[in-house]
Amino acid sequence: MYLLALLTLFGSAFAVPLTASVERLDDLAALYVLPRDTIPTFYDVSLFLNPDNEEYFTGKVSIRILPYVTTNQIVIHAMEMTINSIEAYSDRNPTVNLFANYTLATDDTHLLRIQLNETMTILQPYTINIDYVGHYAENMFGIYVSTYGSVGQTQ
Ligand SMILES: *[C@@H]1O[C@H](CO)[C@@H](O)[C@H](O)[C@H]1NC(C)=O
Ligand SMILES: *[C@@H]1O[C@H](CO)[C@@H](O)[C@H](O)[C@H]1NC(C)=O
Repeated sequence: MYLLALLTLFGSAFAVPLTASVERLDDLAALYVLPRDTIPTFYDVSLFLNPDNEEYFTGKVSIRILPYVTTNQIVIHAMEMTINSIEAYSDRNPTVNLFANYTLATDDTHLLRIQLNETMTILQPYTINIDYVGHYAENMFGIYVSTYGSVGQTQ
């Protein structure tokens, strides 16, 4: 359940080069399989599932990023979720929140673009914390609600 949720809610995350046409570049980048050593690690995922709530659940995820390019933007695939809050910290200065703003694509690219208020230092580790509300998928690709009923009960 936990692994399933992680894999379906968040896809690969990556930093994109800072250029005049970032929007287009990161959409293109999303189409490519990234080299393994540039894929950030997702770690420390917590989900808060309330069996009485079939509409949504809440979750927190921390993502570790090692930038290989000069950029202030991190792009993540994020599906079926509403963002509550985002924080971004450099390992070098773990008390200063560098998060500036984000956009979450409403089309089927599901790209979450996170902007920091300053350019990341190449090969300097960063940690991104995301608090979100996840929505149970109706198509069984994400987390889904399964209702069990005994004979005589409605399902
Ligand atoms: C980014 O935000 C942090 C926290 O508010 C601040 O300390 C830092 O100076 C900001 N950086 C820039 C380049 O504005
Ligand atoms: C998001 O933050 C970046 C970095 O501080 C800034 O350049 C950009 O204008 C902001 N975008 C919006 C829509 O506020």
